[in-house]
Amino acid sequence: MSRFEGKVALVTGGGGGIGSAIAQRLASEDAHVVVTDVNAEAAETVAATLRAAGLKASAIAADIAKAAACHALVQQVLAAHARVDVLVNNAGINRRGNIMAISEDDWDATFAVNIDAMFHLCRAVIPQMMARGGGAIVNTASQWGLHPAPNHIAYNVSKAAVASFTQNLARDYAPHRIRVNAVCPGEIHTPMLEAGVKRSGRTMADLDKLVPFGRVGKPEEVAAVVAFLASDEAPFMCGSLVEITGAQAVA
Ligand SMILES: NC(=O)c1ccc[n+]([C@@H]2O[C@H](COP(=O)([O-])OP(=O)(O)OC[C@H]3O[C@@H](n4cnc5c(N)ncnc54)[C@H](O)[C@@H]3O)[C@@H](O)[C@H]2O)c1
Repeated sequence: MSRFEGKVALVTGGGGGIGSAIAQRLASEDAHVVVTDVNAEAAETVAATLRAAGLKASAIAADIAKAAACHALVQQVLAAHARVDVLVNNAGINRRGNIMAISEDDWDATFAVNIDAMFHLCRAVIPQMMARGGGAIVNTASQWGLHPAPNHIAYNVSKAAVASFTQNLARDYAPHRIRVNAVCPGEIHTPMLEAGVKRSGRTMADLDKLVPFGRVGKPEEVAAVVAFLASDEAPFMCGSLVEITGAQAVA
């Protein structure tokens, strides 16, 4: 499939587990993918791997917890490519704790990365999408934003905000043919999941058993849905929150 031929996609958290799979999927369907991450080395490695496979990709390091960095990032992409057709707001952090345990710093950092960055990046890309007659935005929420897991109040509330943000943005910009949707993954095997498993004292086998499907998900299984939502195959999907959980409702 070449659903993104001639299109430019910006993927945040593109150096991570799910983000690198999204970058790979979009590039394999002929997008030029701009891989961005606070981890410069990870972003460059992903982009270099895609280029080595004959695909179109570049890397930009940016800490999207900062508003100015979000705007500078989009300006850099527009200076190089003159367009952003697809924005995938995928970067996220997961800081553990109930309301008494979580630090103020962790609360603030969670909201800065998980939701505030989406606000700044969407404000930066939407005007040029409107000018070109449309675009697609896909946000990574989480099943925990819909069905809270215990002891992750900052993460869960930030992801609930992502879900609401997605619906609000879709409602406001559908008339401009900017489609905004979100994926809500369950347990997906990435560095973030492995860190969580280590913290909890569980094993990966324990986690597999929690999922009715019998195993945790794979990053490429999320990437396939993101690509579908971003593509012209989903022209009437706007404001959808798509759960990808192997039938697991609560972690
Ligand atoms: N893995 C799961 O089980 C799971 C489940 C539901 C939702 N998610 C969500 O999926 C998304 C990707 O998570 P993942 O599992 O691939 O995790 P990951 O830790 O492998 O990747 C996240 C990436 O985001 C980057 N990032 C973090 N802070 C940043 C910042 N300030 N600026 C720019 N980049 C930053 C990290 O460097 C990392 O490369 C996140 O939004 C996460 O909340 C993951």
